[in-house]
Amino acid sequence: MSGQTDDHAALAFRVRGVRHSFGQTEALRGIDLDVGRGEVLAVTGPSGSGKSTLLHVMAGVFPPDEGSIEYEGADITGLDEAERSDLRLRSFGFVFQFGQLLSDLSAIDNVTIPLLLAGWRRKSALVKARDALEELDVADHRDKRPGELSGGQAQRVAVARALVTEPAALFADEPTGSLDTLAAEKTMDSLLDLVRSRGTTMVIVTHDPRIASYADREAIVRDGAVSFGGGVGNAEGVGNVG
Ligand SMILES: Nc1ncnc2c1ncn2[C@@H]1O[C@H](COP(=O)(O)OP(=O)(O)O)[C@@H](O)[C@H]1O
Ligand SMILES: [Mg+2]
Repeated sequence: MSGQTDDHAALAFRVRGVRHSFGQTEALRGIDLDVGRGEVLAVTGPSGSGKSTLLHVMAGVFPPDEGSIEYEGADITGLDEAERSDLRLRSFGFVFQFGQLLSDLSAIDNVTIPLLLAGWRRKSALVKARDALEELDVADHRDKRPGELSGGQAQRVAVARALVTEPAALFADEPTGSLDTLAAEKTMDSLLDLVRSRGTTMVIVTHDPRIASYADREAIVRDGAVSFGGGVGNAEGVGNVG
């Protein structure tokens, strides 16, 4: 028993008995996982072990076959597609390895989109988007299209887009996987500054130990099940149920 908490108030995510298959492939075979509010959790493990599937079911992209996921004390497993979509838009941000910026739009227009979807007026959305680009140190490139940016700049625009709505939780899947070490570190430094200062809960999937070292704690996924690494920081009180 390592650190199951009774303090549900401090939990952002509570995952219990989650199983999910794609056809004959059992991607998740009974996942139990807690993520504290404001915690940064790294999810590591071999390719094909179920990391992305875990991230998707936690973020309400699709429901698992079995088990439950609570977000902020409410079961999200039974939500229908429209309700999950609404939850994602209202509460979650996403960063992926690449290919998430719209190539025909400028950097600032890309960052403005989530705000417009959330009902912001264009003028205030542009101001907010520009602030977000500044926080990621790419405001100078706001009028460029993704194809005119370096990989690292484009990824920082993508981070600005994910964080511009100030989501309570951020899901990142190999967010620096396409970048060289220096660009990856610069992106992670800006991202973590922002996430820590806002108290954002973050789940970051990575195979890179240097990226995992930014997290408070590490959950290792093998064959669709979670174990815990020698974890850092905040491990007391949030953990697996053994
Ligand atoms: N959409 C899908 N259709 C069929 N199989 C899938 C799908 N997504 C993932 N899988 C399979 O589920 C397993 C876990 O995949 P994934 O969660 O993407 O692993 P990871 O992110 O750790 O590399 C793998 O065997 C993978 O091939
Ligand atoms: Mg993956």
